[in-house]
Amino acid sequence: MTDVRPPGVRGGGARGGPHRSSLSRMSGDMYARGVDMQCPSAARMFDYYLGGTANFAVDRQAVDRLLGEVPEVQVYARATRAFLGRMIRFLCDRGIDQFLDLGSGMPTVGNVHEVAQRRCPEARVAYVDIEPEVVAHSRQLLRGTERVTVTQADIRDPETVLAAPGVTELLDFSRPVAVLAVSILPYVSDEDDPPGIMARYRDSCPAGSYLAVSHGTALTMSAEQVHSSENAYRDTHTPVIMRDPERIRELLPGYELVEPGLVPLPEWRPEPDVNAAQDGTDSANGVAAVGYLPDEPLRAW
Ligand SMILES: C[S@@+](CC[C@H](N)C(=O)[O-])C[C@H]1O[C@@H](n2cnc3c(N)ncnc32)[C@H](O)[C@@H]1O
Repeated sequence: MTDVRPPGVRGGGARGGPHRSSLSRMSGDMYARGVDMQCPSAARMFDYYLGGTANFAVDRQAVDRLLGEVPEVQVYARATRAFLGRMIRFLCDRGIDQFLDLGSGMPTVGNVHEVAQRRCPEARVAYVDIEPEVVAHSRQLLRGTERVTVTQADIRDPETVLAAPGVTELLDFSRPVAVLAVSILPYVSDEDDPPGIMARYRDSCPAGSYLAVSHGTALTMSAEQVHSSENAYRDTHTPVIMRDPERIRELLPGYELVEPGLVPLPEWRPEPDVNAAQDGTDSANGVAAVGYLPDEPLRAW
């Protein structure tokens, strides 16, 4: 099933839910606007780092400027994509066949459904992104693809995401689900309470579910480079922040971390045929973790 119906969040930003007042930065008309070629977009910039073609001159200029100051950002993007593939294969091997991909981004090569359905043909993937053009592009590309939906919604509003038809009609929350937060939580400010948001997704998942998180962190970058990285996204509709690893651990509340825990991106279960050292370890300036939801969620972590 490819979801080509109106998005879960409609024009004007029907956000609702108790979190509504604290949603920062993005205006309600975000949902009404079309493709914005004047401002760079986080999704298109990420696509460009990965060598995709779904980007405009304004995105390439922003990225090229940033890479001049912080070449590590490209290593981060590639290491994130490589982690995504390893993590999906790991989860499929653990019997997971349902994925809720938050902040799914532009479909480039190696998307969640491609990796998952190769390992487990019955796998179901619900993609969610706030950007109308990401959603439009994804729907066009996925037309005819079975067991995949695309929903336009703000992941900071879990109630709306979890009630969207593209999610409720595809995923069965009485069975384990993997929630993916791959390079999306840098777009959620502290003011929006990302641990609280992730706890609400956790509470909708049964024991045996998983949460995968990857996040930018300064391992080799100077304070100046962190500033440049954050600054490069100020003109987008979705600014970013980097966090320290201790803060990133807080984004998996109540989850037991599977081995090897929260580690630099290339060190998360490297596969024998991939030379992790090729991209550097710390130079990816990102960490990743996969959490498992036990019968009794951990309250202290
Ligand atoms: C780095 S990109 C893509 C990450 C993608 N998970 C991947 O691994 O390729 C981040 C994406 O998050 C989306 N995004 C940012 N803030 C969001 C929000 N509040 N709700 C939903 N999507 C959001 C952006 O539109 C962008 O497509």
